Amino acid sequence: MVSFLIAYASWSGNTEEVAGLIGEALAEEGVSVTMHRIGRDVLPNPRSFDAFIIGSFTWDRGATPDEVKDFVAQIGYKPNPVFVFGTGDTQFGGDDLFCKAADKLAKFYHSTYAVLKIEQSPRGAQESEVINWTKGVYTHWQHLHA
Ligand SMILES: Cc1cc2nc3c(=O)[nH]c(=O)nc-3n(C[C@H](O)[C@H](O)[C@H](O)COP(=O)(O)O)c2cc1C
Repeated sequence: MVSFLIAYASWSGNTEEVAGLIGEALAEEGVSVTMHRIGRDVLPNPRSFDAFIIGSFTWDRGATPDEVKDFVAQIGYKPNPVFVFGTGDTQFGGDDLFCKAADKLAKFYHSTYAVLKIEQSPRGAQESEVINWTKGVYTHWQHLHA
């Protein structure tokens, strides 16, 4: 069974909600999913996963949360492939700073797939965006391993 790690940082719950939707959508594809809340859960062995999905909110004018930086350091190498999503709010600096932490993570990990950016909670109209992105992630992964 293909196994994905979904590692996410969430303060007020938006990123956690997105992570949950991604997890459900992957499970429907038959993927084994391990959820890891950054800064809270004990990190499983990163080498035991076929792919990483990393999610973060953005803080303080485009900043990556400290716990996400600690997580990256804790991993200590660049797993491949890494897929990235984020939640943010355009009120904090418009498009330039929107989900900037997710953009920075994707660049750092040389992610080859589009970053999913969700404004606040994924509930409602953005939910289908999350599901479609997740299906695309899995298709992309299958192509990489064909
Ligand atoms: C002090 C503060 C600064 C923020 N700065 C940004 C920012 O620079 N860019 C952005 O896209 N969102 C920014 N946000 C919005 C959060 O990233 C957004 O609310 C996110 O969905 C929170 O995720 P969480 O509910 O998982 O904690 C900021 C929020 C707060 C409270």
